[in-house]
Amino acid sequence: MPKTAPLVWLVAVAACHGPTAASGDAAGDASSSSSSSAGSDDGSSGDAHGPDRVTHGEPGSGGESSSGGDAPPPQWQWSLPPGFPEPWVPPDNPMSTAKVELGRHLFYDTRLSVDGSYSCASCHQQALAFTDGHAHAQGVTGQQHPRSAMSLANVAYAGSLAWANPALLELEAHALGPLFGTTPIEQGLVDEADLLARIADEPRYDALFADAYPDEEKPRTLAHVAQAIAAFERTIISGRAPFDRWFFEGDESAISESAKRGWALFNFPGQCTYCHFNFDYSDSTYFASLPERTTPFHNTGLYDLDGAGAYPEGNEGLMRITGDPADMGKFKSPTLRNIAVTAPYMHDGSVATLQDVLDHYAAGGRAGGPLVDHRVKPFALKPDEVADFLAFFDSLTDEALLTDPALADPW
Ligand code: HEC
Ligand code: HEC
Repeated sequence: MPKTAPLVWLVAVAACHGPTAASGDAAGDASSSSSSSAGSDDGSSGDAHGPDRVTHGEPGSGGESSSGGDAPPPQWQWSLPPGFPEPWVPPDNPMSTAKVELGRHLFYDTRLSVDGSYSCASCHQQALAFTDGHAHAQGVTGQQHPRSAMSLANVAYAGSLAWANPALLELEAHALGPLFGTTPIEQGLVDEADLLARIADEPRYDALFADAYPDEEKPRTLAHVAQAIAAFERTIISGRAPFDRWFFEGDESAISESAKRGWALFNFPGQCTYCHFNFDYSDSTYFASLPERTTPFHNTGLYDLDGAGAYPEGNEGLMRITGDPADMGKFKSPTLRNIAVTAPYMHDGSVATLQDVLDHYAAGGRAGGPLVDHRVKPFALKPDEVADFLAFFDSLTDEALLTDPALADPW
């Protein structure tokens, strides 16, 4: 069977998608997927990228639905790629098309920054799979972030958020960090009043907030800003790459023979799937039908500054949170979806190209050291195998994600 996948993946997919996906014969599977929340239904068209946006009104045209308040809001329908389970959504922030639309406006609104020049999208650009192309993100005042901006593709499924923070689990809470954080300053806002004042004069927000929160007299609050941004982020779903058409839909011509060999190498001898498994190629994955959340972190041997495994100051990974020296250099396994467009790589952008990534892993971690995860094992890498690996990485680029107007700047 060419499309070998780790057992965990198959079990996880089977749990949400029944035996079709698990057997690898998943054509048309999107419409048959069951969901854990009663009565809801996966979008069945399978052709639209991301959640069904058919019910979107034009921004600013929401007066009708907001003034009435009697019609129940249309039930949210995920339109998920084949093999994708239903994301977990906090019960107090149910999805709605209106909320997602509000969130998209906020995500792209440069008024949410100290000098009106910066938004979430400054560091999370759609064309780069919601990264920024820099080794270190730079905030609105020029301060450098110690780490690299992460892709937001499939962030709805993240086991934990950020490079190494097991306590950061909800997108709602996370959104406050870049807005108000001071170490470093990202968008540089002061507080709720500051934020709300900056968007007070924008008439489009009247309808956007009213539609998203039809039962509330004063819907413009910081809590709702965070909820709406989170709802929008949950729609940044990437699973319609050429690789998926081959793997889940059985289209043999979707990817090259070289890419198929690359997938095989990724499994063995790469053993990359120990940590980059599942539909999102990350072991830090959580979704609605999983019984519990896990938040794994690993040291891949990028640094060994002192022979005891030390990482550079400020980027000690999980150890910064736990204080446990054994957690030095441990980070979350990021998604590998769209990896060909998200260079440079790793938490500090210190690996320039995917070929360099392969060299790093083939060496068993470029710096080695006593703390490297035992699953990062040296392996031989021939030049034609590098080409196969790279073809596999390319096959994970989801053009629909990079160009979907529903995820683009609405302003
Ligand atoms: C100055 C650049 C910058 C801005 C502006 C910014 N981010 Fe980020 N983002 C980053 C960096 C850097 C990280 C990694 C942080 C870390 O691990 O320390 C990150 C991580 C994230 C993550 C975690 C992703 C994951 O897979 O765990 C989310 C979600 C996110 N940002 C959302 C947002 C939202 C929403 C906004 C706007 C409210 C925003 N970001 C604004 C740079 C930025
Ligand atoms: C032990 C778990 C583990 C194994 C095995 C592993 N990775 Fe990773 N991978 C990680 C972690 C953790 C990171 C982030 C490390 C960091 O930034 O310090 C990462 C980062 C990456 C990145 C950079 C992602 C980004 O957005 O910057 C790529 C590409 C990658 N891995 C590919 C691979 C390949 C290819 C293999 C197999 C040859 C592999 N990984 C094996 C855990 C693992």
